[in-house]
Amino acid sequence: MSDCCSPKGYRWVFSEKSARAEAKRYRRKGLDSTSRRIVDFLKLQGVEGRTVLEVGGGIGAIQIELLKAGASRAVSVELTPTYEEVAANLLNEAGLADRVERTVMDFAQVAGQVESADIVILNRVICCYPDMPRLAGAAADHARQLLVMSFPRRTWWLCIGLGMGNVLLTLLRREFHIFLHPPKKIVATSRQHGLEPVLDQEGLIWEVAALRRVA
Ligand SMILES: C[S@@+](CC[C@H](N)C(=O)[O-])C[C@H]1O[C@@H](n2cnc3c(N)ncnc32)[C@H](O)[C@@H]1O
Repeated sequence: MSDCCSPKGYRWVFSEKSARAEAKRYRRKGLDSTSRRIVDFLKLQGVEGRTVLEVGGGIGAIQIELLKAGASRAVSVELTPTYEEVAANLLNEAGLADRVERTVMDFAQVAGQVESADIVILNRVICCYPDMPRLAGAAADHARQLLVMSFPRRTWWLCIGLGMGNVLLTLLRREFHIFLHPPKKIVATSRQHGLEPVLDQEGLIWEVAALRRVA
C-alpha cells in the first residue's frame, strides 16, 4: 500500500458501524442500484453452477444474491476486517454460510494465494486502491470467464467533488484517499490480461464494465 493510505485509514472509512448500517439497509431494501445492475447483468449471462470471486465485497450482498440465483460457491477477499461479523450473520440468515469462504487480505499483494473463479467482481473497489494496474490486472488474471467492475465516471463534477473529499481526508489525517483512475485505463489493463469488453454502462456516478475472457 502506498503512503496515502493505511489499514487504519481503511478501518476508519469502512468501520464496523458502517458495515452494520449497510447490512440493515440490505435487509430492508435489498441491493443498492449499482450492485443490482451487476447482479442483473450476471444473471442474464447465466450464473448457474458458476464460481464467484468478489474482491472488496464488503458485507457480501452480491455474493448472497448470486448464490441464491444458482452460483455454486463464492470466495470473498476483503482488505478490511470490519465487515466479517456482519457478513457472517447475513450468510447464516440466508443459510449460505457453507458456500462462501471469506478471507481478509490485500488481494493485489497476495493474489497468487487465491484460486481463480468463473466470475470475478470488483464493485466500487478500484477507486479505493492506489495501484490500479496491479489490482485490476490480478482480478483479470483470476477471471476464467467474466470480470465485472464498477468505478466512478470521470466527470468534471466528480473530479471536483472527490478532490475536495481528498483534501478533507488529508486535513483530518485520515490516511485514506479516493482515486479517480481513468476508466479507459482500467478497461485497457483488463484487456492486456486477455479479456474483451462486453458491457460499458454509465450510471449517474458509477460506471459498470464487464469483460469476457477470449478463447
Ligand atoms: C467502497 S467499498 C465497497 C464495498 C462493496 N463492494 C460495495 O460496493 O458496497 C471498497 C472496499 O474495497 C476494499 N478493498 C480495497 N482495496 C482492496 C484490495 N486490494 N483487496 C481487497 N479489498 C480491497 C475495501 O476494504 C472496501 O471494503
